Amino acid sequence: MTPSLVTVNAPIDCTQTSAWAELEAHKSAFAPDLHGWFAADPGRVERMSLAVADLHVDLSKNLVTDEILDSLMTLAEQTGVAERYAAMIAGEHINTTEDRAVLHTALRRPAGASPALVVDGQDVDAEVQEVLHRITEFAQRVRSGDFKGVTGKKVTHLVNIGIGGSDLGPVMVYEALEPYADAGISARFVSNIDPTDMGQKLKGLDPETTLFIVASKTFTTLETLTNARLARDWLWDSLAESGAISGDDASKADAVAHHFIAVSTALDKVEAFGIDTRNAFGFWDWVGGRYSVDSAIGTSLAIALGPDAFKGLLAGFHAVDEHVRTTPLNKNVPVLMGLLNVWYVNFLGSQAHAVLPYAQQLHRFPAYLQQLTMESNGKSVRWDGTPVTCDTGEIFWGEPGTNGQHAFYQLIHQGTRLIPADFIAVANPAYPLKDGDQDVHNLFLANYLAQTKALAFGKTAEEVRAEGTTGPLVAARTFAGNKPTTSIFAPALTPSVVGQLIALYEHITFVQGVIWGVNSFDQWGVELGKQLALQIAPAVEGDDAALAAQDASTQALIAYYKAHRT
Ligand code: F6P
Repeated sequence: MTPSLVTVNAPIDCTQTSAWAELEAHKSAFAPDLHGWFAADPGRVERMSLAVADLHVDLSKNLVTDEILDSLMTLAEQTGVAERYAAMIAGEHINTTEDRAVLHTALRRPAGASPALVVDGQDVDAEVQEVLHRITEFAQRVRSGDFKGVTGKKVTHLVNIGIGGSDLGPVMVYEALEPYADAGISARFVSNIDPTDMGQKLKGLDPETTLFIVASKTFTTLETLTNARLARDWLWDSLAESGAISGDDASKADAVAHHFIAVSTALDKVEAFGIDTRNAFGFWDWVGGRYSVDSAIGTSLAIALGPDAFKGLLAGFHAVDEHVRTTPLNKNVPVLMGLLNVWYVNFLGSQAHAVLPYAQQLHRFPAYLQQLTMESNGKSVRWDGTPVTCDTGEIFWGEPGTNGQHAFYQLIHQGTRLIPADFIAVANPAYPLKDGDQDVHNLFLANYLAQTKALAFGKTAEEVRAEGTTGPLVAARTFAGNKPTTSIFAPALTPSVVGQLIALYEHITFVQGVIWGVNSFDQWGVELGKQLALQIAPAVEGDDAALAAQDASTQALIAYYKAHRT
């Protein structure tokens, strides 16, 4: 992308651009016909299949013509996507409501990148590399057994305690790269304040070989701090019970120093919790929670999967950042995918977007993307506080194929709603298996290929009749087709590929946010519920005044809870 020299400060109303008018005109005459388009245009697949780092992305089964794509690219130009990207990576405070730079791309710049990135007087590169170096050293100490528990045993289990961006990224990547866990250290992730989550995750753990990582950007999050205290009590009680520690204050402090580390931007609060700050890893307010898996928030990954795998992940992110920065719009994959989403949301009325990994290891990827996309772009005001001028923020969801095929694909194939879907697969599975002579991955990928084909081209009533079907069953067995999909293929699920996939969606989200004029880096919409939970908690505990202050429905629900809680 080539930015103009003009810095974009005020959001440009996308609906007032000439590109938007062109797209409205395309839409009014729109008659999608993937069958016909493929038949008439033998070059479509090649033209619309693009590479981004190791990812092969086939956009050909999307509901666009070249003319529509041209107008979408003009929309990106007229709304200043390239300029805003340049502003972001240079450290301008594009997170306007929090007056912060947005520099997750700096987390994956390689050591020695030139020119050095200095933002607000801070040598960003030097600080990033310093923390990465400390994480690497610490991870190596834990993996080698040099870092020991309070009774001198090697760590075998990590428990990452965090929520939202301090959980979803680490757990998703850990699951995606589990075959790389080669040091006899496995990881568990506790996020929910539902005591069941902690209760279940502590089951079977040996306190002498367990290391807790308290991951919280703010170190104020109710769920995480409550769970951290529960974990600390469990550690103290179980070590004292077995006689491993005496249970006096000094022995408890020693136990915390050996079994708790922290990741946060608030190192003073980490210290107040009793965690040795030598075992705390910092990051910065310019890393949003949902953009933080490549910061110290990924410490659990560096330990369990190894520092090399973690660095491979960062390299994958950076490769996509560079693709976005240097590739012209018509070959720029995240830009094109973001533009396609705008076409579906704002012109074809789509409200949801499915992400369907044909890779079991990516089973948490849709959940990860839900925070990334919906916390970023679920907004109704723009970055200058004015109302948005069009729909924003589609609902992202999904499950791994083939499980989803036997659950909700019915609606995508034959329902009344348009649901664009991204299908993600890898050529080489981590666990290749055969069923007799049948390579099971071949069979699996036949499903990946079959689904996008069925969605695109459907099945006509004539084809159904030709199979001998008659009467009302003909309609039931007919598939309209023209259901848009993007196919993403990678050679294998390596650390770099996982980083590439995450960065791909980060930048898709960015592009949509710029076009809509929203600040994709704040999340004020989560605050009210948090405040009310703090007001309601005393009412649930029995405070009559707090109860009286609630609305009638809330009072009745509290009454039900109290009547049934034993
Ligand atoms: O619930 C909103 C949120 O602020 C997310 O944006 C964030 O990832 C999560 O809470 C956890 O916050 P923290 O890392 O500060 O504990």
